[in-house]
Amino acid sequence: MTTVEENERLVRVGPGTAMGGVLRRYWIPFLPSADLGAEGEPKRVRLLGEELVAFRNRDGRVGVLDRYCPHRGVDLFYGRNEQCGLRCIYHGWKMELDGQVSDMPNLRAGTQAAGRVRTTAYPTYDDGTVLWAYLGPPETRPSRPPAIWEATAAEQVSVRRIDCRGNWLQHLEGQIDSSHVAFLHSYRSSGPHLFGDEAAYTDPNPDLEIVDTGFGAMFAWLRKGKAAGSRNVRMAQWAAPFMTGIAGFVVDGNHQFHFAVPEDDEHTIYLVVSHDPLPVPPRDDSEETRRLGELRYAPGSYRLELSPENDYEIDREMQRTQNFSGIASLRVQDLAVQELVRGGPVADRTREHLVATDRAILFARRRLARLMDRLEADGTLAEPGLLAEVDFRPFDHDVAATTDVGEHCRASVRPLRLGVG
Ligand code: FES
Ligand SMILES: [Fe+2]
Repeated sequence: MTTVEENERLVRVGPGTAMGGVLRRYWIPFLPSADLGAEGEPKRVRLLGEELVAFRNRDGRVGVLDRYCPHRGVDLFYGRNEQCGLRCIYHGWKMELDGQVSDMPNLRAGTQAAGRVRTTAYPTYDDGTVLWAYLGPPETRPSRPPAIWEATAAEQVSVRRIDCRGNWLQHLEGQIDSSHVAFLHSYRSSGPHLFGDEAAYTDPNPDLEIVDTGFGAMFAWLRKGKAAGSRNVRMAQWAAPFMTGIAGFVVDGNHQFHFAVPEDDEHTIYLVVSHDPLPVPPRDDSEETRRLGELRYAPGSYRLELSPENDYEIDREMQRTQNFSGIASLRVQDLAVQELVRGGPVADRTREHLVATDRAILFARRRLARLMDRLEADGTLAEPGLLAEVDFRPFDHDVAATTDVGEHCRASVRPLRLGVG
């Protein structure tokens, strides 16, 4: 049973909070790299409750600054992206990538303040797919974010961002809980469907084996396999605090990496990086398939048009005759159950009735609590989480009934030797 205090500790992410402290020890992905052009338009960014602005200078380097000008607080989103810095449109102060104010044209030459004013600036890293920022103490900054997909050719990696309502933890829990697939994402009533007869879609009550990796966990969901006596293992990896690795449904060996990044306590940036090193068979172009993958964005934003305000355009006829949810797009199906819980943006975990298939999310909550406890006790991380230098390889395949599932899962994680050819 989660208490009010435990829940509050898990969900609050702003400066000075316990969970905010943990999250600030990790590089945080926030934007597809391609969405920030050199000397192009700045983007407003909110991370862990902090209002920021991101821009890419003429050299291609990315800055993340306090969104408000240190002079008199004007929104730097309106600023001019000029060569190596961002210039405020009110009185022309210019901020460099490192936060130094390099030009104050409304000051007389030789004035004391010139060259002494700085604004908040956070380190960034561009891995070519995703932009990351580090908001924590400089002395604990890891040298770089994890290299998960960088060894793969660029055309085999793609990224998509969706801005969601709701606290980050309920979005993370949705990814960890594979048992919902047989319900929420079920297309059983529609005849031959996108994913054929994969076990995850047909078994509503899978067994769960949890393998503690020391940087999160592997959640192995066990269902009946195709051959007599075999078992299907669908293994999702969680790297604390906010990443999950999800096996591809169509090709075992392809993956998706999901990041539930807290914008603030009530909003989440959802990033999905598709990593397809193996050829993906062409999808059929049926109406059903098209609607499953369709995401309609509100103009000029990463928000979707479908929202609680329009009930995600739930179609009762579709719900009766075609799928379980009555909602067309797979990702929107997730949003419909994760954005608002009991009508609010922050789930009240004190009122839940958890069952056996909820053990995975319980594990994650306890592990996150341990990270907070350790950080508060001695200033260190209890485990590396997303900082672990390992090759994340979730999978979905059948194994013999005699296979030791724990061993089988452990064998799928390989150490990553960064910088070694
Ligand atoms: S408010 Fe930005 S320069 Fe004055
Ligand atoms: Fe889902």
